[in-house]
Amino acid sequence: MRISVIGCGYLGAVHAASMAEIGHEVVGIDVDQRKITALCAGRAPFYEPDFEQLLARALEAGRLSFSTDVTDAAGAQVHFLCVGTPQKHGEYAADLRFVQAAAESLLQVLAPGDLVVGKSTVPVGTAAELAAMFGEKVPGALLAWNPEFLREGFAVRDTLHPDRLVYGLPPDGDGVTAERLLDEVYAPIVARGTPKVTTDHATAEMVKTAANSFLATKISFINAMAELCEATGADVKLLADAIGYDDRIGRKFLNAGLGFGGGCLPKDIRAFMARAGELGADQALTFLREVDNINMRRRIRMVELAREVLDGSLLGKRVAVLGAAFKPDSDDIRDSPALNVAAQLQLQGAVVCVTDPAAVENSRREWPHLDYAATPEEAAADADAVLVLTEWRQYRELDPAAFGELVRQKRVLDGRNALDREAWTAAGWTYRALGRRAG
Ligand code: UDX
Repeated sequence: MRISVIGCGYLGAVHAASMAEIGHEVVGIDVDQRKITALCAGRAPFYEPDFEQLLARALEAGRLSFSTDVTDAAGAQVHFLCVGTPQKHGEYAADLRFVQAAAESLLQVLAPGDLVVGKSTVPVGTAAELAAMFGEKVPGALLAWNPEFLREGFAVRDTLHPDRLVYGLPPDGDGVTAERLLDEVYAPIVARGTPKVTTDHATAEMVKTAANSFLATKISFINAMAELCEATGADVKLLADAIGYDDRIGRKFLNAGLGFGGGCLPKDIRAFMARAGELGADQALTFLREVDNINMRRRIRMVELAREVLDGSLLGKRVAVLGAAFKPDSDDIRDSPALNVAAQLQLQGAVVCVTDPAAVENSRREWPHLDYAATPEEAAADADAVLVLTEWRQYRELDPAAFGELVRQKRVLDGRNALDREAWTAAGWTYRALGRRAG
């Protein structure tokens, strides 16, 4: 099939290359020349394991091309909308500017019988508006909503091996046609029996925001328990293990620590609350405000803990921050809890040095006033405290004995409950973590 993908950010670029991988002829469109130049040259404009190999294969097979000119999407039968929906500046609501611009640009190439497939995370009701717009301007064009659940760091695997497919379809015969086209697009995924939910536009849009709200709630739940553990001397990690054995609860997404960040969970729960307000149903989601509050409190608590460990004052203390990305295996620093904590520490007088295996370049651009080091060893030189704020494998595997030689004071704060407490304490470190007793 000929497919176009409008928007070649995280979601779009991975989707375009994945669709080429399963045999389609794909063109990726983006207004950002820098991104398109990199992708054409087989370079990923972001850090994502496995993506460059996938990209190289698709380019070499001649099934994938990229362009800044939307008219290159002409002739494609299916057009995926993969643009971003960031949080509006100073508001909770999602900014739909890019979705609207992408949809309008598609009008230049859309033909009757074509299918537009929305993948972006949008406020419920957006698909209905777009369907009405396309229906008026290009009668016979169809619209489906097909949310994406990929995680950064696992984007290729999640796209090629999703745990479910969700099709939000138009009513009646149009829905049958749209479903047939989507089944053709995802043929190998459908063939292996991947669960498929076919529904209407609104439900499909909500599936995505509901899933992310649930995940955020799970993290904030365990972080609320961490607050109580701190108050009582209980251990949140063991608590999570113990409740996680109940398979109605499950252990996944119960890692207490600095909480969630990134380009999805924080802005999605806020946009969901804003949309509920517009629909007069804000009471249904007031709990999400608390989810957000608990999450933000973790960052403040981390700074307090650092102050506590540093004998009550941050002034002039040298602090090494290990991790800047919002999570490991990513160079994404959007709403990164690690950088938020680093900046707070600096603001309160600490001398902060940040390191990260992938995100230093992005961090330097967005947070130029922080100091950076290329390696954890360099960051930790003469440090009074080491804070592990993103649980990269490299940091989990540090040798606490050798690392201890570099610092001024062997004090480690584990913001992600990721280190081996026994090994660090055995090597003479004072170990502190969120939701756990001092080690
Ligand atoms: C998320 C959803 O998982 C994905 O399905 C959706 O499509 C996009 O949003 P992503 O933002 O890539 O994906 O990261 P995810 O792995 O979900 O982690 C989100 C944040 O939660 C990270 O900051 C992570 O550190 C934090 N987290 C995750 C915890 O604090 N504890 C956990 O137990 C799990």
